[in-house]
Amino acid sequence: MSSDIEDLRREIDIVDVISEYLSLERVGSNYRTNCPFHPDRTPSFYVSPSRQIFKCFGCGVGGDAIKFVSLYENVSYIQAALQIARRYGIRLRIKEEPAEKAKILEVLEEVARFYQRKLKESKEAVEYLKGRGIDTATIRRFGLGYSPSSEELVRFLKEIGGLEVYEKTGNVSKFGEDKFRDLFLRRLVIPIKDQKGRVVGFGGRTLEGEGPKYVNSPESDVFKKRELLFGLPEAVGYMKDLGYAIVVEGYFDVIRMHQEGFRNAVAPLGTSFGEAHAKILSRLTKKVYLLFDGDEAGRRAVRVAVPYLLREDLEVYPVFLPEGKDPEDFLKEEGKATLKEMLKGARELFSGMLWEIKEGKEVEAVVKDFMYFVSFMRDEIKAYTLISELSRATKIPQEVLISQKYKRVEPPKEEEGPRLSFTERVFLKGLMELKPRINLEELDLSPRVRELAEAILREEYYEVPEEVLNLKVSDIKGCFEEALSRLKIDIPREEVSLREAVREWVRTHRGGIRPFKRRRQRLET
Ligand code: CTP
Ligand code: MN
Repeated sequence: MSSDIEDLRREIDIVDVISEYLSLERVGSNYRTNCPFHPDRTPSFYVSPSRQIFKCFGCGVGGDAIKFVSLYENVSYIQAALQIARRYGIRLRIKEEPAEKAKILEVLEEVARFYQRKLKESKEAVEYLKGRGIDTATIRRFGLGYSPSSEELVRFLKEIGGLEVYEKTGNVSKFGEDKFRDLFLRRLVIPIKDQKGRVVGFGGRTLEGEGPKYVNSPESDVFKKRELLFGLPEAVGYMKDLGYAIVVEGYFDVIRMHQEGFRNAVAPLGTSFGEAHAKILSRLTKKVYLLFDGDEAGRRAVRVAVPYLLREDLEVYPVFLPEGKDPEDFLKEEGKATLKEMLKGARELFSGMLWEIKEGKEVEAVVKDFMYFVSFMRDEIKAYTLISELSRATKIPQEVLISQKYKRVEPPKEEEGPRLSFTERVFLKGLMELKPRINLEELDLSPRVRELAEAILREEYYEVPEEVLNLKVSDIKGCFEEALSRLKIDIPREEVSLREAVREWVRTHRGGIRPFKRRRQRLET
């Protein structure tokens, strides 16, 4: 594989390749232009034909011709190589997916079909879907299924010779000699597909209220939650045609939206909407509607998503449903015509804020939000145009506004600082969800946790790491209080590991030895 890319690199000329995108000016033996990857007023982007590389002395990006195309077109290195090869009429032999991955995908496809067949045999599951108002066409479109028994699934896997490979997905777990448990046992199964429509994992919903409401396939080489959007392969064509995407929060919101004709709807898989999601959408559309519950959690989810969308140059339309309603509820109660009107009447994020200012709503808070969000925009010209509009609307001088610009515009590094302890994660999550009145000064916090806590209090969730955003604790109040008491200055800290917490939960819920009131923790996922 690599030798083929090597060949390609020898065949092509970086000046040719980049000239298709940018107009280059010759300086000595090199070429230069304004850098397309950062706002650049002087030409700091150099291309060296002798070394076949490019380099920007402003922002530091650099690499070969393939790297340039991959950055410019926002595609992987291999995809970029394929594109260039096509343009040059070179046949590039790149090995398809490694054999094992292909095999896993094949088995996943088969398992999805197995579940689908089982759904038809399960009265309970069929009744459940009927009760939720999901029709048969929708069931088929999304390939919904049901898992009746681990033994049956395992028998089926053995028949198709896929058991060994399937174990690697973590969707079944071995608990003894030839004994397996299906992760989705007695759950309604929702296949999750990648953009190409290949099944890569599942989500499973309980029919009865037993266990956590949803379980999802564990992370693996084929199943990367952060890079998947539920409903994407079904929605892609509609997004392109309609010119916008709708992001909702849950599986059934997507399913219901599609059933009612809003076929450009997608949702993240129980994680918050992040960078990879925004990148995917930016390749498909220019506008993103965020259709969330108008409650506290929904508003927070929007604040989390917006910076990523703006960074990808997307226009954002936040639409809030009445409190406590998700799109599924709303469609059931109000009907699709009402939803259509709501979407039609939605204001783009910044015009919405300007409108709020004209209406005389809490101007100070809106100005702060405006400046916070504007700082994420990649296009400086658009950003400054907006700032001057804000200045006109508020009569606040532009310089004053600009001084309010949020400082941090680079995405926080993936592995920044040590991982947070369980107590710290619960503390930060509680701070987001409960908005308690507390004095941070009274707490013994590490500098990083303090910084994060301050950002949360300012509702600047961009800094908050996923391990906090995606933490699921159902008794957040109890857990938060417990965490607080651990973080209070002077009280010796004893760390509770996740495992201990779970053990304790099991103990207390068995009606066991010590029903610890304050430490009662219910943990999901
Ligand atoms: N989710 C999850 N694990 C949980 C709870 C939720 O992965 N324990 C994810 C699922 O993708 C779910 C989404 O978060 O669709 C939204 O969850 P929630 O709002 O709790 O539920 P709904 O989607 O409204 O679920 P339902 O309508 O089925 O009750
Ligand atoms: Mn719901």
